[in-house]
Amino acid sequence: MKVKNICCIGAGYVGGPTMSVIAQKNKHITVNVVDMNIDKISAWNSKDLDRLPIYEPGLSKVVNEARGRNLFFSTEIDKHIDEADMIFISVNTPTKTHGEGMGYAADLKYVEACAKQIAKISKSDKIVVEKSTVPVRTSEKIKEILNRYNKNVKFEILSNPEFLAEGTAMRDLEIPDRVIIGGDNSSAIDSLVKIYSSWVPEKNILTTNLWSSELSKLTANAFLAQRISSINSLSELCEETGADIEEVSKAIGMDSRIGSSFLKTSVAFGGSCFQKDILNLVYIARTLGLKKVADYWEQIIIINEHQRNRFSKKIIQTIDSNNLNPKVQILGWAFKKDTNDSRESAAIYVADNLIKSKISINIYDPKVKQSQIFFDLNYINNDEIKNKELVSVKNNMLKCKFNTNVIAILTEWDEFKHYDWGQIYKKMNKPAYIFDGRNILDRKKLESIGFNYIGIGR
Ligand code: UDX
Ligand code: ADP
Repeated sequence: MKVKNICCIGAGYVGGPTMSVIAQKNKHITVNVVDMNIDKISAWNSKDLDRLPIYEPGLSKVVNEARGRNLFFSTEIDKHIDEADMIFISVNTPTKTHGEGMGYAADLKYVEACAKQIAKISKSDKIVVEKSTVPVRTSEKIKEILNRYNKNVKFEILSNPEFLAEGTAMRDLEIPDRVIIGGDNSSAIDSLVKIYSSWVPEKNILTTNLWSSELSKLTANAFLAQRISSINSLSELCEETGADIEEVSKAIGMDSRIGSSFLKTSVAFGGSCFQKDILNLVYIARTLGLKKVADYWEQIIIINEHQRNRFSKKIIQTIDSNNLNPKVQILGWAFKKDTNDSRESAAIYVADNLIKSKISINIYDPKVKQSQIFFDLNYINNDEIKNKELVSVKNNMLKCKFNTNVIAILTEWDEFKHYDWGQIYKKMNKPAYIFDGRNILDRKKLESIGFNYIGIGR
């Protein structure tokens, strides 16, 4: 099938950037990105490109180029499903909060709702592409729903997981290590290969069966997260032995068999994928009776929680044992730099631990809005009153007073490295402590200013 019209359901962190690049590289294809969230769609359509719902370096340039030409954002879901030859399902698949598999399994209700809607609306044959990260064999479920609700139209299902990382999404989309397309119909696979091959070399486009494609995504995320938990577990060992985790990480990363990526110790990994996907993998393994396999992968999550609790405890103990004013300046709320996404950010958990110890906090992040910060806290601890009482948010670093004894860095934003720490030190109460949850600052320099510097694993 020669694809002329694409509809993507879901204008989130995956759907928005991915479709922007597909449209940019395929001028002959009309791409409609639809979402039921009216505010999100109007933000995608806003004239002021600083108001796009997602902050991603390089995104606004691509949107500016393609929007209105062959890229459109709309809430008219049915209309665009009807017109499309190819439909991407790019909706959220959070961890289930109730029912069977609660706390582990991926909640497929949004994916299933999309499949139902596609079936009900479609009058012509469609290729349906599963873009959201889903458990193995979800495509079977989608196929079953499509065929149950529509017996007149031929649907072909493909799996095309997205490997972009936030903050570097545009680069990852522009030059992906690989694109995976899973399916059992070669003509449908070719249609999608053609779209990607307008900018991705064919040798980097891997075609597989549906199940391998689905499982590859979960496995890739599990492997990446495993490296972080491994290095984080060793950071604790370093603190006990006098070794420096940065030196250990460099030393092992120079072994070409190990490689240096994803060996940066941190206060813990966050983001919408790692925890969710591992829990999902654990659930699948348990469901299949593979207890040892499930326990093995679950340990990654256990270490991640341990790492952020350990970090919080150190701050609380420092305040208690030195009888300091119970107040902390937090720098960074996003789960990593260069994104406004705070899903599963370590900062949320650390802040909550401090709040539980009645420590008041002031928070500054260059991109995450105050409303999102309160949303995250209210969601995690359900204690709106206490959050209001103990938390304040500044959207401008110059407005931060730094009149505390303790600063905690929770996101590795570049701007934090370039602050005038001498000036900040002058404003702070003494003794002054910096808890560097990302090891981004120069310990010697800070100590020479007068700070007590506490990094991770050193
Ligand atoms: C991840 C995968 O990298 C991507 O392929 C997939 O499509 C989605 O999930 P993302 O969550 O956007 O991407 O960001 P990533 O760069 O993987 O970072 C995840 C978390 O791990 C962040 O909190 C980051 O700070 C942390 N991290 C990453 C470390 O603590 N140390 C590292 O060495 C790398
Ligand atoms: P991801 O990181 O996977 O892109 P997001 O939460 O950022 O996840 O985006 C998913 C988007 O999908 C949200 O904007 C949500 O409103 C949208 N969505 C979920 N279900 C539907 C649906 N049935 N129809 C249209 N949009 C949907």
